[in-house]
Amino acid sequence: MPQENHAKQQTADESGSSGAGPTTVIGVDIGGTGIKGGIVDVESGAVIGDRYRLSTPKPSTPEAVARCVKDIVDELSTRDTAPANGSPVGVTFPAIISHGVARSAANVDKSWIGTDVDSLFTDILGREVEVMNDADAAGLAEARWGAGKDVGGVVLVITLGTGIGSAFIMDGVLVPNAELGHLEIDGYDAETRASASAREREDLSWKEYGVRLQRYFSHVEFLFSPELFIIGGGISKRSEDFLPLLDLRTKVIPAKLKNNAGIVGAALHSAERFNHI
Ligand code: BGC
Repeated sequence: MPQENHAKQQTADESGSSGAGPTTVIGVDIGGTGIKGGIVDVESGAVIGDRYRLSTPKPSTPEAVARCVKDIVDELSTRDTAPANGSPVGVTFPAIISHGVARSAANVDKSWIGTDVDSLFTDILGREVEVMNDADAAGLAEARWGAGKDVGGVVLVITLGTGIGSAFIMDGVLVPNAELGHLEIDGYDAETRASASAREREDLSWKEYGVRLQRYFSHVEFLFSPELFIIGGGISKRSEDFLPLLDLRTKVIPAKLKNNAGIVGAALHSAERFNHI
């Protein structure tokens, strides 16, 4: 709930900072197949130690997913580098998150729609939780420490995965819940044609997939004339296979933080929300 000001006085211990070491916050990234968490130094954006991953429960109902997030946070909390016990956590979720409530469920169990994700996770984890859209988290991290660092104007971070996620960044500030993966293009919901899963499902060659991406990105470029496109999601590792196929006015580059972007962005957002940094 970044719109509200819940700032409170914290001791150094509560803030996750010992005074000597880095200020750390646990970030958790919820995806359709896996849920992964890590301890993030929110002053540098580095993930400290190994990430911890569990498979997304099936069915991915709110209660089952919340228990899985708790298991991940519990594991990370046993580590020497963990923030103080009970300190706030940042979590991503692949849907519109407005005032902590899920307002869509494109690729997750429909029972999430209308769920107060902030409250559910806060209850089950027994600590304060800040939830945000997954692509927004990735975009925030890329803008602060990754491919969008120090880039002014409009930067669009587009994640190509099971769906298409998007983060709209203006002068380094996130404008949340852009949902540009659901633009209707040629009569289709764009993510059903141009996501990484559409490429796999239809067994498209890079050349064929490049045509889909060209149609998608040229439309988004026409609508927003951004300064920069950053492409995230697992497929960004293969950017040399498809970026050369795109012909756009706008510079297009792969994301830098790769698999860590969601975890890092969620931790940063939580740290800012609860006045850690
Ligand atoms: C959802 C977005 C999400 C994206 C990536 C889309 O289907 O609508 O909220 O960010 O998938 O997970």
